[in-house]
Amino acid sequence: VLAGKCPFGGDRLGGAFGSKPTLQDWYPNRLRVEQLHRNGPRANPLGEEFDYKAAFEAIDLQALKAEIKQFLQTSVSWWPSDYGNYGPQMIRMAWHAAGTYRIADGRGGAGEAMQRFAPIDSWWDNGNTDKSRRLIWPIKQKYGDALSWGDLMVLVGNCALEIMNFPTYGYAGGRHDAWEADDATYWGPEYVNMSTVESFDKMTDRSKRWRGENGDADYDLEQPLAATNQAIIYVDPEGPNKSGDPLESARDIRIAFTRMAMNDEETVALIAGGHAFGKSHGMVAPDRIGAPPEMAPIEQMGLGWHNPEGSGNAENTMTNGIEGSWTPDPTTWDNSYLENLFRFEWEQTKSPAGALQWTPKDPDAPRTPDAHIPGKTHPLMMMTSDIALKDDPVYRPICERFLADFDYFTLQFSKAWYKLTHRDMGPKERYLGEERTIEDDLLWQDPIPPVDHPLIDAGDVAQLKQAILGSGVSVSDLAFTAFSAASTYRDTDKRGGANGARIALAPQKDWAVNRRAMPVVERLRGIADEFNAKAAGGKRVSLADLIVLGGCAAVERAAADGGHTVDVPFTPGRMDTTDDRTDADSFEWLRPMVDGFRNYVDDRFEDVTGGKIAPEQMFLDRANLLGLSAPEWAVLTAGLRALGANWDGSDTGVLTERVGALSNDFFTVVTSMDYEWAKSDGDTFALRDRDSGEQRYTASRCDLIFGANSQLRAISEVYAASTGEARFVRDFVAVWNKVMMADRYDTHQ
Ligand code: HEM
Repeated sequence: VLAGKCPFGGDRLGGAFGSKPTLQDWYPNRLRVEQLHRNGPRANPLGEEFDYKAAFEAIDLQALKAEIKQFLQTSVSWWPSDYGNYGPQMIRMAWHAAGTYRIADGRGGAGEAMQRFAPIDSWWDNGNTDKSRRLIWPIKQKYGDALSWGDLMVLVGNCALEIMNFPTYGYAGGRHDAWEADDATYWGPEYVNMSTVESFDKMTDRSKRWRGENGDADYDLEQPLAATNQAIIYVDPEGPNKSGDPLESARDIRIAFTRMAMNDEETVALIAGGHAFGKSHGMVAPDRIGAPPEMAPIEQMGLGWHNPEGSGNAENTMTNGIEGSWTPDPTTWDNSYLENLFRFEWEQTKSPAGALQWTPKDPDAPRTPDAHIPGKTHPLMMMTSDIALKDDPVYRPICERFLADFDYFTLQFSKAWYKLTHRDMGPKERYLGEERTIEDDLLWQDPIPPVDHPLIDAGDVAQLKQAILGSGVSVSDLAFTAFSAASTYRDTDKRGGANGARIALAPQKDWAVNRRAMPVVERLRGIADEFNAKAAGGKRVSLADLIVLGGCAAVERAAADGGHTVDVPFTPGRMDTTDDRTDADSFEWLRPMVDGFRNYVDDRFEDVTGGKIAPEQMFLDRANLLGLSAPEWAVLTAGLRALGANWDGSDTGVLTERVGALSNDFFTVVTSMDYEWAKSDGDTFALRDRDSGEQRYTASRCDLIFGANSQLRAISEVYAASTGEARFVRDFVAVWNKVMMADRYDTHQ
């Protein structure tokens, strides 16, 4: 016993809840199933019952906008506004909030206001957006629950544009804030300890996410990324690897903006439009700037990037490192960005912070006023990424058109800004407030015609179910088809789903994973046509509704065959959409690489992942896209296996003798010690009876994971237990309905 010390109490405290090392440090390859529960109800201080729609709609939007506009034109001493106008910095804040969106998985975007949380709050590219958000806190505080951060940030961006004479296209509220950092979205492979400013250079080493640079045909940015560098929203303004090469920069811009779902014209409109306003800040060397918010001293209260020069703001501001403004009047919407870009020759120079930028060769070119010191002026500035618009052979004619027709440019920028900031909101039914646009169908909104006829009633539903079940299409095929139609839904950007019957249109009708559904869709179309031909009073059933109803009928029949009577909910109201309302290229992104629900692994999987990602990891990704919890994920998979709903009709993972009957057999088999599993071929496994050695089943990694992963196994045990089957059937029906209704924003928010 040490003298004078309590032998039991100990005097060394080495860690606390959450201290490192954590599970992920010890077992970096473990499947992070718990991520499905990110941002769950317990994290939400507003509570699950809170009705945001009602609260938002009670706001006087015009009064709110007037307050915002007034605030934008005042200045606060702790962070004085440039040119007496916070507008430009707020446009950048809103743009950066939305610009994280990437079409490959629908993640990122303004929707959940993730700019408030790590890692995004601390990305170098988001420098000083912490100040922008803090500046608008009094408005957020006043409106409280009725105005989410996500909605406020986009609205402030719109108000900023409007006070500078730009006519915005529209504004919709309806964004639901997240309450915690997103610890699972893949932002790229680069990893360094972020505690030093120098680490930023290492983070931006592009070589890890790119293959075959320098004009190589293989010039390839890893999926699902859109940004060209870690910790950047889109591209490096100084060009790739700070090369200062405008054409290389244009190539990067095209890749990044295409992945953001923008075409060439939208890209030019956004960049040329955005840089009509404000300035870049580069007065202090980056190595003198303090740590980002996530690493900053506690007394900075969530703010980062402490600038030790003078007041640390106003004329000393350091954000990106480039210094100067693009136009002579940075607080007015005009065409001078493009006019000056094209009128002058530009030469490279350096900012006070050492960043590479461009200035007009002509000493008589117009100058721009200092943002703080009256009477002082500066030469105009362009970034390498701005010169790119002039030098790139495709961007250039777009610029020239905008230059010649300012009204056209204005319209294109307003539409592109609307798309940028609303892209991840999904169907228009989610849009709130009087400035939302409802009448016009914008292709990126994946429009579906509104219901224009009486819907089927309970009697029709019963009759149609009978017709479907009597049509000779199997329960397996019906369930497969309904699931295939609905399962494109992504909770990240609220795209996809059964509504619209897009499974019958390109590109979905041509996906290998949907092949099995095509004859079923045609059969159902026949049944719908027959019904509609006879129905009185203009009543109709859409193909989209009938596909879902077919699934409901199949699940009810399968449950009955398993000895359970269930009523699967069905809510009519879907409509069929058309090819001209479908952006086929954009829908192609919804094609799954792995869909464990249908036991599908794309042929290209090995090749495109280089063995870096296991199929079950992509399966987890899909479960997350569908918005499922871990129990829902397990139950849905087990039910689809019982129904025999593999994409190719194979029996892989169909761990039952009673295919087509709803049973918990999948769970009893994956938890049973009567069997042993062995790898047979590639990622296929054989299940043998331990006693007889007889092979009973085959399965994939997407099946085995429910017995192998400890969290999933715990769930499988619940449903495999003697008390489990009734619970399984009940929970399966619930998750089935959840998936079928996921895109029905006409019925829920
Ligand atoms: C400012 C880069 C696209 C709006 C800046 C700054 C950089 C930059 C480096 C200076 C940040 C600072 O030091 O304060 C880029 C690049 C783009 C791009 C590389 C794409 C190639 C856009 C777009 C918009 C936009 C699409 C909006 C539609 C703005 C605004 C500012 C700004 C308004 C001024 C902010 C202020 O005055 O504080 N941009 N930007 N930018 N950007 Fe962009």
